[in-house]
Amino acid sequence: MNSKKIMITGGRGMLGRQITDDFKSEHTIYIADIDDTDITDLDRFHKFTKEINPDIIIHAAAYTRVDGAETESDFAYKLNALGSKNVAVVAEAVKAKIIYISTDYVFDGVSSKPYNEYDTPNPTSVYGKSKYAGEVFVKENSSDYLITRISWLYGLGGPSFLHTMNRLSVDGVNELKVVNDQIGNPTSTIAVSRKLKSLINSDIDLKGIFHLTCEGSTSWYDLAVAFFKLRGFDQKVTPCSSLEYKTSAKRPANSQLDKMNLRLHNLEQMPNWQDALKEFVDIENW
Ligand SMILES: NC(=O)c1ccc[n+]([C@@H]2O[C@H](COP(=O)([O-])OP(=O)(O)OC[C@H]3O[C@@H](n4cnc5c(N)ncnc54)[C@H](OP(=O)(O)O)[C@@H]3O)[C@@H](O)[C@H]2O)c1
Repeated sequence: MNSKKIMITGGRGMLGRQITDDFKSEHTIYIADIDDTDITDLDRFHKFTKEINPDIIIHAAAYTRVDGAETESDFAYKLNALGSKNVAVVAEAVKAKIIYISTDYVFDGVSSKPYNEYDTPNPTSVYGKSKYAGEVFVKENSSDYLITRISWLYGLGGPSFLHTMNRLSVDGVNELKVVNDQIGNPTSTIAVSRKLKSLINSDIDLKGIFHLTCEGSTSWYDLAVAFFKLRGFDQKVTPCSSLEYKTSAKRPANSQLDKMNLRLHNLEQMPNWQDALKEFVDIENW
């Protein structure tokens, strides 16, 4: 196995922490989070990156507050669109591969079928639009890129939907109303990190877009029910519609992603979401 210098933007975030933990025994890891540098400052980020001279940049830094982005759109675009452009430009300058972490929210969710890597994005929220603008900048500015789309993410230490469910239940909330008309692929940072590691260690030099969400689909309501069952909590959960549970950002009704490119490259599929959830619930320090 070929040990590489890997820089992780947003390395102290939920996904970045998991990748750092998983990769550090095989690769040399450099964290590029907001305390270390700033991806929105091209000169500073270029200088920081040149010193390290990484082989690969995993670009996970982002403005991730989906509803907040509706009112803080300048901030969201600055980080997700222009910040990603800077990371791609710098990656190209130092001859590093860029792996951009993107999202299911680049799709509008109108189709009844899972979206594959060849479907055309049509984001409906500011967050989705700014992340998609980041994808376009990565494609335009890097000659060696992977765009990996993930969704409904949870991971050790949170924050995530599951951590919120857990906290509300521990706080003694009687009844939890959870939407049951949005369908997607709950995905653990553990599963994403493992797959990224296998793609990086693969003999094939992969390029292009890869969907990396866990297999199988469910609603937020059924995810909450499955979570409480695994936790052994007798929590009352009531299904409701997206109309009843209003949020500032419009979310796709169908967020399912087809992992077509893993299939076409004869790569192992992602684990089933129930198995990944159990693995996570068992090891999280609740
Ligand atoms: N969470 C999800 O459900 C989900 C779903 C699909 C895709 N994704 C994508 O997956 C990736 C990782 O998500 P996550 O939940 O792990 O995100 P996260 O926990 O919010 O981590 C992002 C990290 O980036 C840092 N950061 C912010 N501005 C920066 C800057 N200018 N320069 C360098 N670093 C900066 C953040 O610092 P601060 O915390 O101080 O701002 C944070 O540590 C993101 O690209 C996200 O869009 C997430």
